Amino acid sequence: MGFVRVRFNNFKNIEPREMRWFPGLNLLTGGNGAGKTNILEGISIISGWGTLGRGEKNSSIPTWESGSSEAQLTGEIDSEEIIKVKVAKRFFIKVDDKTVTASDLRWKIPLLSFLSDDMSIIEGSSASRRRLVDMLLALIVPSYAFRLSEYRRGVRQKALFLKKGLPSMVVDRALLPLAAWLWRMREEGVGLLSQELEKLSELTPARIELSLKRGGAGLCADCEEDYSRSLFCYREREAALKFPIVGPHRDDVAITADGRQASSALSRGLRRRTAIALMLAASDGVKRKTGKSPVLLLDEVTAELDGEGRKILFDSLLSRDSQLFAATAEPFRLEIPCVVHKVEGGRIVESRQNK
Ligand SMILES: Nc1ncnc2c1ncn2[C@@H]1O[C@H](COP(=O)(O)OP(=O)(O)O)[C@@H](O)[C@H]1O
Ligand SMILES: [Mg+2]
Repeated sequence: MGFVRVRFNNFKNIEPREMRWFPGLNLLTGGNGAGKTNILEGISIISGWGTLGRGEKNSSIPTWESGSSEAQLTGEIDSEEIIKVKVAKRFFIKVDDKTVTASDLRWKIPLLSFLSDDMSIIEGSSASRRRLVDMLLALIVPSYAFRLSEYRRGVRQKALFLKKGLPSMVVDRALLPLAAWLWRMREEGVGLLSQELEKLSELTPARIELSLKRGGAGLCADCEEDYSRSLFCYREREAALKFPIVGPHRDDVAITADGRQASSALSRGLRRRTAIALMLAASDGVKRKTGKSPVLLLDEVTAELDGEGRKILFDSLLSRDSQLFAATAEPFRLEIPCVVHKVEGGRIVESRQNK
């Protein structure tokens, strides 16, 4: 599965021209502000996965001063289907002129995106570790994304109740089955990541182990019981903080290297390599469960990696049969079989094929 060509109209700073893509690795190079991340974002949107979550609203997508509030993205995938997405307040999607939902499209084009923040997945905030597990599960469990957003809506509602000093028991009861289901799924997702990670030992020098830490819970193994008991324990605390502290929205993934906490046990370079191994493990997990290799989007992929780290990274990337889009602001001299697209001022000015 991959893109043959795309064209973005009125999309941020990207010029409305056809961009042609290589089935393997497409490396986008160019200075800061050239539009590399915008191109990755366009590919994410035209695959049904939405913006890259840089805290922007759809209304900030159309080109500034164009006077229009809409952007249009068109692309052809290798099955020759034509995808069209109109970005207005929400996304309107057509495949071969038939209207489809974003979730239909996501099943057609599995995709995993890794932003520069994800590179600090080991030492960064728990949100980036949850994001990894959620992306993986959204690709292998059809109802996962929907149920997660239902759960999040419930948590927002509960936060509102707590803020007003109202009892939140009604919301808690509605959240219980969702929270328990999400915990079960995430435990399976973390298990799958661990198994795939074991096969990537050339990237990870130490024995890396992962386990899910349930948010504000962990009193017993049974998910339903754990949620109820933990809520009971922390009810007063939640009321005092005016914020829900029990549930999957506060989950984390504990990562250890040879039994010690990875964030302190590993050097900076090794933490980045482990982060990359985790991304590849997610991609391999999706392949194993669904038989499809996801398209990979990797932003600022080489930052802070030394020569050896880059070599290992690109060897691993190229050994997969996925289409890859990677962006880097650094000048690039690696002789790897890929197409290097030079991006300047919102347009690809040159595409050079390395053999
Ligand atoms: N809605 C928009 N309309 C026009 N230009 C935009 C819009 N949103 C962002 N930009 C421009 O896009 C550029 C950032 O592009 P980006 O893809 O993040 O660059 P990089 O190559 O560093 O990844 C900035 O120069 C910014 O001014
Ligand atoms: Mg960028």
